[in-house]
Amino acid sequence: MTGRLVVASANAHKAAELQDLLVSLGIGLDVVARPADLAVPAEDAPDFIGNARIKAAAVAAATGEWALADDSGLEVDALDGAPGVRSARFAGDEASDADNVALLLDRLVGLGAVTAAERRARFRCCIVVQSPPDADGSVIELVADGTVEGHIAGAPRGNGGFGYDPVFVPDDPVGDASAPGRTFAEMSGIEKASISHRGRALRAIAPQLARLP
Ligand code: IMP
Repeated sequence: MTGRLVVASANAHKAAELQDLLVSLGIGLDVVARPADLAVPAEDAPDFIGNARIKAAAVAAATGEWALADDSGLEVDALDGAPGVRSARFAGDEASDADNVALLLDRLVGLGAVTAAERRARFRCCIVVQSPPDADGSVIELVADGTVEGHIAGAPRGNGGFGYDPVFVPDDPVGDASAPGRTFAEMSGIEKASISHRGRALRAIAPQLARLP
């Protein structure tokens, strides 16, 4: 596939990150962020793929170009998969990352979940790419998922990343083997991307993009 791909996020950083990844895989797409004045509908689907699809479809229809959207969140087994699609708003609509992390830690303490096994969790990311609708309204759609398994630390550690990064300890070994058990917030961005849900989903969608005519 050649041409342009509009990322449903208005965040230019996300578009640049995707462009870099595609270039490293030999895919010469011009990746641009969603125009700032283009509103996307509410993300009210019950799952990550539904929310990613809402965003990709809205941007593809409005711009007439291929669009890519991702949706992601944290699932904690002891909380029956919460916060899930509500990850950004776990502690309320105006909640900060620190509010959400504090509520998560409180809930786990309240349940007496202490060991790593009792605090199992994973990040999931779903990416949807959609073509603009053709004359009869049909679209071509690509989907990819990425997951990273881990557990929730007892207290926040590290200054990197965002969201729940300071309390998420991935199972996968990464970087310095003598420093196991680091949270995502204690890793470099490159280390995190090598095992993260989003990195994995992006690496899974890239070959599908390369196969498009
Ligand atoms: P979104 O899919 O980018 O809207 O992410 C939804 C929410 O999930 C974020 O606001 C974070 O709370 C959480 N989240 C998603 N990905 C990550 C991550 O890589 N690190 C930490 N938190 C994340």
